[in-house]
Amino acid sequence: MAVIRSVIRSVGAHLPKRVMTNADMMKIVDTSDEWIVERTGIRARHIADEDEKTSDLGIAASKQALVRAGIDPIDIDLVICATATPDRTFPATAVTIQRALGITKGAAFDVQAVCSGFVYALTIADNFLKAGQFKRAIVVGAETFSRILDWNDRGTCVLFGDGAGAVVLEAQPQHGTTEDRGILTTVIRSDGRFEDLLYVDGGPGSTKTVGHLRMNGREVFRHAVQKISGVIEEALVMTGFAPDEIDLYVPHQANKRILDGVVKKLGVEPDKIVVTLDRHGNTSAASIPLALNHAFEAHKLQEGSLVLMEAMGGGFTWGAVLARW
Ligand code: COA
Repeated sequence: MAVIRSVIRSVGAHLPKRVMTNADMMKIVDTSDEWIVERTGIRARHIADEDEKTSDLGIAASKQALVRAGIDPIDIDLVICATATPDRTFPATAVTIQRALGITKGAAFDVQAVCSGFVYALTIADNFLKAGQFKRAIVVGAETFSRILDWNDRGTCVLFGDGAGAVVLEAQPQHGTTEDRGILTTVIRSDGRFEDLLYVDGGPGSTKTVGHLRMNGREVFRHAVQKISGVIEEALVMTGFAPDEIDLYVPHQANKRILDGVVKKLGVEPDKIVVTLDRHGNTSAASIPLALNHAFEAHKLQEGSLVLMEAMGGGFTWGAVLARW
């Protein structure tokens, strides 16, 4: 049966120039390269300059994705930006990106699901495209998490970084089988009972400030492997694939030990997992498209590759997307 699928036409990414290594971190908080690498796998992160906004990173990533897709921005009718660090409380950063790309039709809005934001945004775009409401979408994950970090809290400031990635999606007729190109299934979940384990202690509607990230790292860790494995298994059951049939796992890059836990639980070959967190830390909603971009540039993503993306973040929110490149 012919169906419409959201085919991923391209990916792009952008990282701020400034690199902050673990050695640089040691000048700010009482930490060590050994502690950070051993507990997280992170060696460096990119930090945006004062005048570099989330939208600037998102615009650069979107432009690269559009050039690679060979699509004129005026043919895009949906812009979704996943971010927890918007330029301003409003308008949406997606609208700023839309404007910079010269797009004046369709819709643009932000999605707030923190580190799961890109998975949520892909899911939303996929449903709009499948419903026939829009034809071509840019889905951006862009963050300047350095702005909401407490630089006195060594338990959190060493973990995060800034960056952006974007994909161009196009509605295309496919056959309705799991051999199709495009997004094959999506799973998104949330459970607000865990909101106090990972949150920002400010906001326009409460403190009238931006606030700082707060986290109970141990508890987040405890939930992560189980919740992430759960949605991956759901996506596999929905499509009938076995874990070893997936060509590439592109996880949210939070912590190497969480990735290792998922690898062990599902029995996935470690070399099928894209790992970039050593170079840019946890970039929240930007981390999956940054990792996709890395895989693309390393020629690990071929047309027809089966790609599984997953994430978990504050809320908790979590989810997975299975797509054929
Ligand atoms: N450098 C050196 N020591 C540090 C440190 C740092 N950057 N951060 C914390 N410590 C210390 C703590 O103060 C504590 O010291 P104490 O035993 O003297 O009190 C010790 O290390 C252990 O702290 P703890 O928080 O229990 O460490 P942990 O083994 O749980 O590792 C995380 C901390 C954050 C690395 C880990 O919990 C984690 O990765 N959690 C998941 C976080 C995550 O991925 N969040 C994002 C989800 S989207």
